[in-house]
Amino acid sequence: STIIFTQPSGTTDAITVEEGTSLMRAAVTNGVEGIVGECGGQAMCATCHVYVRPEFAAALPEIADDEEEMLECTTAERTERSRLGCQIPATPELDGMVVDVPSDQV
Ligand code: FES
Repeated sequence: STIIFTQPSGTTDAITVEEGTSLMRAAVTNGVEGIVGECGGQAMCATCHVYVRPEFAAALPEIADDEEEMLECTTAERTERSRLGCQIPATPELDGMVVDVPSDQV
């Protein structure tokens, strides 16, 4: 799938994410600014926080308990669009999804 990461400055990175690979992993591999992934994808750091555009919300997996807990610890404000990038594996349904990178992760 192609996932589009939009920076606070408005610049975008469109990256190809293999099915099953998390948005965090793909962003880190591709050097997308503002996605840190400190814990390596264990839902233990919240440095992979992204804001998913509402039109894609229905295609996302549900928020698990450990993700829910970490979303309380994001550096940038949590909103109803907040998710952890490491907990979202790419699927064909997410092709073309736009996510906004927060201004602060740590
Ligand atoms: Fe640590 Fe996602 S990479 S919570």
